[in-house]
Amino acid sequence: MPKSLLIIAHAPSVNTSALADAALAGATHPDAGQIAAVLKSPFDVAADDLRACDGVIIGTTENIGYMAGATKDMFDRCYDDWLDRHEAMPVGIYIRAGRDGTATRRALESIIGALRWRLVAAPLILHGDWQDAYRDQVSELAMGMAAGMDAGIF
Ligand SMILES: Cc1cc2nc3c(=O)[nH]c(=O)nc-3n(C[C@H](O)[C@H](O)[C@H](O)COP(=O)(O)O)c2cc1C
Repeated sequence: MPKSLLIIAHAPSVNTSALADAALAGATHPDAGQIAAVLKSPFDVAADDLRACDGVIIGTTENIGYMAGATKDMFDRCYDDWLDRHEAMPVGIYIRAGRDGTATRRALESIIGALRWRLVAAPLILHGDWQDAYRDQVSELAMGMAAGMDAGIF
C-alpha cells in the first residue's frame, strides 16, 4: 500500500490557493514515487485524519504576528489527541507571510517539537511581494518529502 501524505493548507487567497495546488502537484508528481496525497483545509482536519497518514505538510499564512487562526484552531482541537500518538512523523512546513513569518515559524517548530514530530526540512518562509517562484519552492518541498517517504528515508 502506498504511503499517505496529508497536505494541510490554509488558502484564503488566490496566491495561497496556488501554493496549496503546487504542494499537491509536487507530492503527486511521477518523480515523487507512489505516494497517496490528500489536500485539506485545516478547518476540515480532525484528529483521526492522522491515523491513516504517514507524513504531513502544513501550509499556513502569517496573520497578526502568528500562524493563521485556521491553523491554530486545528491544533487547539487536535493537539491532545495527537500528543504521543505520532512520534517521529515527518512534517514539512511552508509559510506565506506578507512581511515576516518568523513568529509563525517559531510557533510551529515549538508545537512540532512538543508533539515529537520530525521536521524533515527547514520551514519554507515565503515573504514579501508575491513571486511565481514560490509555487516552485512549495512544489519542490512536497516532491522531496513524498520521494523521501516513498524511499523510506523519512
Ligand atoms: C489581517 C492580516 C494580518 C496580517 N498580518 C501579517 C503579519 O503579521 N505578518 C506578515 O508577515 N504578514 C501578515 N499579513 C499578510 C498575509 O500573510 C498575506 O496577505 C497572506 O499570506 C496571503 O498572501 P497573498 O497576499 O500573497 O495572497 C497579514 C494579512 C492580513 C489580511
